Amino acid sequence: MFQDRLVIFDTTLRDGEQSPGATLNADEKVEIARQLARLGVDVIEAGFAYASPGDFEAVERVARTVGTEDGPMICSLARAIRSDIQAAAEAIRPAARGRIHTFISTSDIHLEHQLRKSRPEVLAIAAEMVAFAKSFVDDVEFSPMDAGRSDPEYLYRVLEAAIDAGATTVNIPDTVGYLTPAEFGGLIRGIAQNVRGIERAVISVHCHNDLGLAVANSLAAIENGARQIECTINGIGERAGNCSLEEIVMALHVRRQFFNPIFGRPADAATPLCAIDTRQIYKSSRLVSHLTGMLVQPNKAIVGANAFAHESGIHQDGVLKNRLTYEILDAETVGVNENRIVLGKHSGRNAFRTRLGELGYELGDADLNRAFLRFKELADKKKTVSDWDIEAVISDEIRLIPEAYHLEQVQVSCGEPGLPTATVRLTGPDGVERVDAAVGTGPVDAVYKAINRLIELPNELIEFSVQSVTAGIDAMGEVTIRVRQDGRTFSGHAANTDIIVASARAYLNALNKLHFALAHPTHSGGALAHPNAAAQKL
Ligand code: KIV
Ligand code: ZN
Repeated sequence: MFQDRLVIFDTTLRDGEQSPGATLNADEKVEIARQLARLGVDVIEAGFAYASPGDFEAVERVARTVGTEDGPMICSLARAIRSDIQAAAEAIRPAARGRIHTFISTSDIHLEHQLRKSRPEVLAIAAEMVAFAKSFVDDVEFSPMDAGRSDPEYLYRVLEAAIDAGATTVNIPDTVGYLTPAEFGGLIRGIAQNVRGIERAVISVHCHNDLGLAVANSLAAIENGARQIECTINGIGERAGNCSLEEIVMALHVRRQFFNPIFGRPADAATPLCAIDTRQIYKSSRLVSHLTGMLVQPNKAIVGANAFAHESGIHQDGVLKNRLTYEILDAETVGVNENRIVLGKHSGRNAFRTRLGELGYELGDADLNRAFLRFKELADKKKTVSDWDIEAVISDEIRLIPEAYHLEQVQVSCGEPGLPTATVRLTGPDGVERVDAAVGTGPVDAVYKAINRLIELPNELIEFSVQSVTAGIDAMGEVTIRVRQDGRTFSGHAANTDIIVASARAYLNALNKLHFALAHPTHSGGALAHPNAAAQKL
């Protein structure tokens, strides 16, 4: 099936959420899905409905709230098993346009050691389950898992059977991120040339990044006929992650003169090659990073803190004379606002609300009031408040999980010599205030120990990081932490000009999520088993 533009299939909420420790509950998934819709993705893979009641609920809610007539198509993953496909069909039902994505492995190594089935058996299951999925929806995607290591001749036959059974998209995963761009491009070319009936389906690719080649392999696939790319925000995903949405989209945007002819257009055609609104990229990246607790490395292409920073004197000199000497894309194209100073302590509520609107935030009255109070406090402490500060305040203030435990006060005393000591006062779910104090190896340790004395939720702190939102001694510090309990990970995030306060609030944010998960055991909390593991039950 020839298409003159690329389909962007986002799997942040499914493969992305399989990143070790990236836990998302249903509210957070809906929030990300809303942003993905603003970003303009064509398909949202909202989860794996059969994996748990929480995952089912998340897919169903995304389908209901984001899968509107003019919104993206909503998809659920399903093993090539009837019960999985039934759950997927039910979860996506509220969406105006829904897709079932069913998969089964085709490599000999998976057939022999994992599925313990013969090639003819797997081929028959693929055809039967695609037909079963087709009995629920018109739009069915089929993936031969570990296609990158499968025998191409056998792969062609399985794909033919899937297309004959009604698959409208055939997705070719390099599940273990093993192939090089030339090899993967060759595999896609072979499929385009040798699979009977391939013109009736869209060729999609799903590349993992184990050798750092996911984006390069996806681009090679486009050159050879792929017209759907599966990708995630910030490239998160199983192990080393997936093809990063922002990187592939910006590669196509910046190098459109190279890619246009591949899509049958004149090299200088101006129409974008996909439907993504690039100005929403940075905001999407920040949201996913905050909600999953997975930090973006500073040198990450497109969305890293250094992506547009020039350190060397020669580079700075060149950029001052002409930006194009060392920059291939303008930060504003991806929604990075050059840290414009827009508001100060005399700015009123209306100016604040207007700026939020310009940044793409629509808050209800209660959230707006809280955010405005925080902004005023910040403007009192900092001379100038940048867009980045405002974004940090918003993501800090607008909590998706109800605050069972609320921080009222935190005070530390530390120094050399001395014993770092913290006093913490907080309100619990019963509305009762509690105070306690503790001594620690440092001020943050003391705060966490005091909180642990007040909230008895045993956990292991597995990550703690502080990042500065902007430069300068009065900059806000953003704290991201992750805690683990019973194999499940919960992230916490907070921003404040006082990093001890930010540390306390980030810890409480994670504990509130843990408390919520214990109180609602069926609610999605990201404890999804990887389909590779689930497939053993086939
Ligand atoms: O990596 C993979 O093979 C997958 C499939 C389920 C598409 O994620
Ligand atoms: Zn994958």
